[in-house]
Amino acid sequence: MELMRAAGVAEFGAADRLQIVEVPRPVPGPGEVLVRVRAAGVQPADVAVRSGWLPPGAPPVEFPVVPGNEFAGVVEGTGQEVAGFRTMRCYAEYVAVPETQIVPKPEGVDWATAGALSASGQTAHTALERLGLQTGETLLVHGAAGGVGTMITQLAVLRGVRVVGTGSAANQEYLRGLGAVAVEYGDGELERLRRHGPFDAALDAAGHGSLHTSIELVTDRTRIGAIADWQLAQELGCRWIGSDRNQARLAELLDLVAAGRLAVTVRATYTLEEAFKAHADIETGHGRGKVVLIVG
Ligand SMILES: NC(=O)c1ccc[n+]([C@@H]2O[C@H](COP(=O)([O-])OP(=O)(O)OC[C@H]3O[C@@H](n4cnc5c(N)ncnc54)[C@H](OP(=O)(O)O)[C@@H]3O)[C@@H](O)[C@H]2O)c1
Repeated sequence: MELMRAAGVAEFGAADRLQIVEVPRPVPGPGEVLVRVRAAGVQPADVAVRSGWLPPGAPPVEFPVVPGNEFAGVVEGTGQEVAGFRTMRCYAEYVAVPETQIVPKPEGVDWATAGALSASGQTAHTALERLGLQTGETLLVHGAAGGVGTMITQLAVLRGVRVVGTGSAANQEYLRGLGAVAVEYGDGELERLRRHGPFDAALDAAGHGSLHTSIELVTDRTRIGAIADWQLAQELGCRWIGSDRNQARLAELLDLVAAGRLAVTVRATYTLEEAFKAHADIETGHGRGKVVLIVG
């Protein structure tokens, strides 16, 4: 049995539990390929996994638990460069993945960008679809500077949707650069947002009770999407949106990136050994775009 290096936890706990572990190198099954990972995106769901939460469809817990849901790398045997997604185990030198979960990486797209596109990008793309946004409509995005927020803002603008996005004071200029009308969250947020309405739809990509603000501004609750606060979405009758990840969606996103029409903001990169720092970064709950592990 060949071994490989990964970043994982021997027991659930805080970020500093994440360390280099030696685990069996996966052996691809029928219809699968083995990919040598070059970059793996990091997101809040990985932090939850590290702390003991398991996503739907995850394999039964077996320590060390290796988080990670998106990657880019090179297919063993063929040398093809790809971006892809799988449930868990992407913070590793190799992943085995169904061929239906990879897409060729265009030459001009760098590893960090390709490895950090799938999770936030596909969530944003799904949300845009579920909320049925049309050209000329106005979308409110809570947490517009984050991983998902950065993606939905750009995708909506590309579709001719007007986006009003909330962010911290430090991210106002950044949000304008993405094509949004920028509004600071915090005290007085509702009044500030009202000046930029009316709103046709909203996406809460922040949590922190932002749905309470959304329901004041969007009448139709089926057009208020929630990805961060499941409990509050149930209470308020808003639409919970789970990411519907598939090959076609990822291919469309990669094409947009290759054409220079969509950008992945990589705010920090870390090595596999530094995965604990990447988690601490995500756990601040603030920052632009994505955090990425560069592997090998
Ligand atoms: N349902 C799904 O399938 C799915 C998929 C992906 C993500 N998610 C969830 O969606 C959420 C966002 O994910 P992400 O990857 O985009 O996270 P992220 O990159 O950490 O972004 C979160 C953003 O929230 C903003 N924020 C912090 N406090 C805020 C407040 N009080 N009001 C408004 N905004 C605030 C921050 O903006 P500033 O930096 O400007 O402070 C930050 O940019 C997470 O809860 C994640 O677990 C769900």
